[in-house]
Amino acid sequence: MELILQSQSIKNAKSKTLVVGVFQSPDGKKPLSACKAKIGEDILNSLAKAEVFTGEKGKVYFVRSYDKDPSIVFIGLGKTSETDTECLRVTAANLEKKLEAESINEAAICVDSLLHKDVTKKFAVEALLQSFAEGLLLTQYSFDKYKEKPKTKKLKKVTFHTEKKSKKLNESLVTAEVLSDAVFIARDLSNEPSSTIYPQSLGKEAEKLAKKYGVKCRVMQKAELVKEKMGGILGVGQGSNNPPTFIIMEYKPKAMKKTAKKIAFVGKAVTFDTGGISLKPSPKMEEMKHDMSGGANAIAAILGAAKLGVKNHIFAYIPAAENMPGGKAICPSTILKSRSGKTIEVQNTDAEGRLILCDALDYAQEKKPDVIIDMATLTGAVVIALGNACSAIMGNNQTAVNRYLEIAEETGEKHWQLPLYKEYDDDMNSKIADVCNIGGDRGAGSQKAAVFLQRFIKEGQTWMHLDIAASAWNQRHLPYAPYGATGATVRTLIAFASKY
Ligand code: BES
Ligand code: ZN
Ligand code: ZN
Repeated sequence: MELILQSQSIKNAKSKTLVVGVFQSPDGKKPLSACKAKIGEDILNSLAKAEVFTGEKGKVYFVRSYDKDPSIVFIGLGKTSETDTECLRVTAANLEKKLEAESINEAAICVDSLLHKDVTKKFAVEALLQSFAEGLLLTQYSFDKYKEKPKTKKLKKVTFHTEKKSKKLNESLVTAEVLSDAVFIARDLSNEPSSTIYPQSLGKEAEKLAKKYGVKCRVMQKAELVKEKMGGILGVGQGSNNPPTFIIMEYKPKAMKKTAKKIAFVGKAVTFDTGGISLKPSPKMEEMKHDMSGGANAIAAILGAAKLGVKNHIFAYIPAAENMPGGKAICPSTILKSRSGKTIEVQNTDAEGRLILCDALDYAQEKKPDVIIDMATLTGAVVIALGNACSAIMGNNQTAVNRYLEIAEETGEKHWQLPLYKEYDDDMNSKIADVCNIGGDRGAGSQKAAVFLQRFIKEGQTWMHLDIAASAWNQRHLPYAPYGATGATVRTLIAFASKY
């Protein structure tokens, strides 16, 4: 879909479909239209009188024209006190679905109708427009390449009409495009089955994408992992015929300033998680093709950051392995020696994400980054604790966590912080190795996985961990999240790369 900014009133729009934003009066009874062109006001009043549509948040009302007049689509933005950027994203998503259902190829949007002064007091016009564009774009995703007849999207062009002349507004649309392209990369990689995405093919895909985006990429093969003494990645990978890999990417801004921050993304890429010898039950096991979503997000985020030309120096590290119960697989009781030198007693081979991440985290620290963010579909426990409404965040530096959460507030991606208590750390001790890969009881599973990772973080290293096991796929409550992978956290990671 093409998004175009038109610096002229919607009155001059050529499109046969006009979109008008409608706010609700404080008592919720009356529609308030901020569209100066007064498009469809009579219709709007009659809809309100009949109590059919008063501008309720997220609601879309399509009025099809039967003559030469254009069709009009009213989109509800709610009470001005409640409207925020996420409301625009959601409303735009619902709009896209409606236009698609009504077989509309092209629509024109009255931008001032989205910009009530109560709302622009709280949010920059650019942020509002970007969110709206994101909502439209993100909703157009579908993963149907394996179907005989993939569906083509009917909605091809949307023009944004505003009399405001601003280069920044055009930038908002471009940014939305870069972000949604990055989210699509993450979704595509995660949605691919394990027959096409395995550690080596993921490496190849990363190389291809890196080349396209002008990002450096190197893929370590098994022999190099042996040289690097990455016992965790090798251990998890040894039960599979597909050998593990380690993907390293780097984006360095042109004419980098001394003040540029070094940011490292580390993403778990278990291309399929059977559980290994601690085999998972069959129902829904196919979902474990998504167990590389952390890696997919790390790849997508560094590419998106590069495309935006952020000023910070970004690294991405993706340990990739297939967790299979083959004849050479590690068993519960195996002791692995990680790259850091610490030994790990494996009591459950299904707690494999942390085994590959600890080597990657150890490696990532060699560049002494200002901050490391790892992301992983790490624990079933996070699904129980928080449901799929949000991602969990944990970290060792509250200032950095707060900054991340502030940025996530702007991107509308929900996160919730969980504590890293010493009690959890104590529970990860092993009687025979330096650390055990599972806790003594089932409580606080997500936090215990995180403190396991924290044991591999050196003194003074700022680190955050995102558990995306619940948010990486099936967020069907979000109208802009499709069936399958969501790419949740990618937009926040890119915003973090640009703002930290
Ligand atoms: N990949 C899973 C976590 C997961 C579970 C993600 C459900 C998404 C949905 C991870 O490798 C795993 O199996 N973790 C175990 C850890 C346990 C053995 C301590 C879990 O959560 O059950
Ligand atoms: Zn597992
Ligand atoms: Zn896993």
